Amino acid sequence: LSEWTRVGDLSEGLKDKKVLITGRAQTTRAVGKNMAFVVVRQKGFTVQCVVTVQPDLVSRQMVKFVAGLSRESIIDVQGLVSVPSMPIKGTTQQVEVQVRKLHCISKAMPTLPINIEDAARSEKEIEEALQAGEQLVRVNQDTRLNYRVLDMRTPANQGIFRIQHEVGSIFRKFLQSEGFEEIHTPKLIAGTSEGGSAVFKLDYKGQPACLAQSPQLHKQMAICGDKERVFEVGPVFRAEDSYTHRHLCEFVGLDVEMEIKKHYSEVMDIVDRLFVTMFDHLNEKCKKELDAVRRQYPFEPLKYLRKTLRLRFEEGFKCSRYGTIFYILHRCPLAVRPFYTMPCYDDAKYSNSLDVFIRGEEIISGAQRVHVPELLEERAKACGIDVNTITTYIDSFRYGAPPHGGFGVGLERVVMLFCGLNNIRKTSLFPRDPLRLAP
Ligand code: 4AD
Repeated sequence: LSEWTRVGDLSEGLKDKKVLITGRAQTTRAVGKNMAFVVVRQKGFTVQCVVTVQPDLVSRQMVKFVAGLSRESIIDVQGLVSVPSMPIKGTTQQVEVQVRKLHCISKAMPTLPINIEDAARSEKEIEEALQAGEQLVRVNQDTRLNYRVLDMRTPANQGIFRIQHEVGSIFRKFLQSEGFEEIHTPKLIAGTSEGGSAVFKLDYKGQPACLAQSPQLHKQMAICGDKERVFEVGPVFRAEDSYTHRHLCEFVGLDVEMEIKKHYSEVMDIVDRLFVTMFDHLNEKCKKELDAVRRQYPFEPLKYLRKTLRLRFEEGFKCSRYGTIFYILHRCPLAVRPFYTMPCYDDAKYSNSLDVFIRGEEIISGAQRVHVPELLEERAKACGIDVNTITTYIDSFRYGAPPHGGFGVGLERVVMLFCGLNNIRKTSLFPRDPLRLAP
């Protein structure tokens, strides 16, 4: 594939060189019968390609063909790179391609439900265009999600999902480097894993079952099975009727569980180093992607300290001045935590637990777990859980279990809040919420 040049790599250094590019016909325009322009887009980068009638090289028929290409068709273009005397408006690359050959590889339908250029405009650009009397349709969220494969093609969305990929990839790499091993727990389970009624119920060959609300119980059981330090990246299902900007019915859970040697601050140490590593990496390695997101959805870079701020619940809760910084809140009240959370040894009103916030919204919750089976059973009952549905889980602690703890991160929330976006649906490829099961 070395003969192919990526659109994003086209620059003045390639002047007069023959190149082969592939991409989508973003827009086409004819100038009389002898000339046509086609803007080719590949992965958010765009270049203007010029087709001019030339004896024995480019026919009138070819110009007509190019002018008539439907938007978003996939084309291969062969031509020479040229540098125009005037700056080019509306493309990312400041060179042109003088077309010699052009093939349509896949034709898109003539009218599309979303115009990518409109979908890529920022709110400010839309306002300006409307004031200038331009005819444009504001592409709303539902339309975007209904036609997600088109919406995904905007530069901001290309950036968002690249960042999402990096978050998952750093999560894996960092934890592996710290001696954690990846596990895969079942998503079909007998009872609730987080308590409450927010579960998708199903029939498992005649037996009542549900979709896992988290890998919580099985990741702890893996610790009972001597795994010491584990992580998982997998789907999490929540049936809650939440119609908010931050709740989905299915999201990607990044989960961690580990033996604790002395204190649950060891869990916070991992959170701290994992996220500082992640944020540094995103800021350094995803500059282009962050710029693309910022162009459409302006945001202030996230503030975080080398050593993450740790606040006790009582201090943190009343401190709004920590609102925009990345911080950990710990020692939360036991009453609001799931049944498996370890109460504080010195005051059982509180628990050895933590929540982590970006821009004032939660991205992580975690805790030390109860590893004493009698206490676990008591806590489950006190929280209204039918212990018969979790007997194998509780039994796991009767064979000897080390003190342990961990945390769960919502992937879509991390990307949403790192990029200061206003809706979690923007960071889920094909979101599932109480009203959406397609595409
Ligand atoms: O706070 P949650 O429910 O905690 C657990 O699942 C525990 N098992 C974690 C642990 O190890 N103790 O979920 C963890 C994270 C939240 O902080 C949030 O980022 C995300 O998952 N999350 C959601 N994301 C999208 N939609 C929802 N409905 C979410 N619910 C939680």
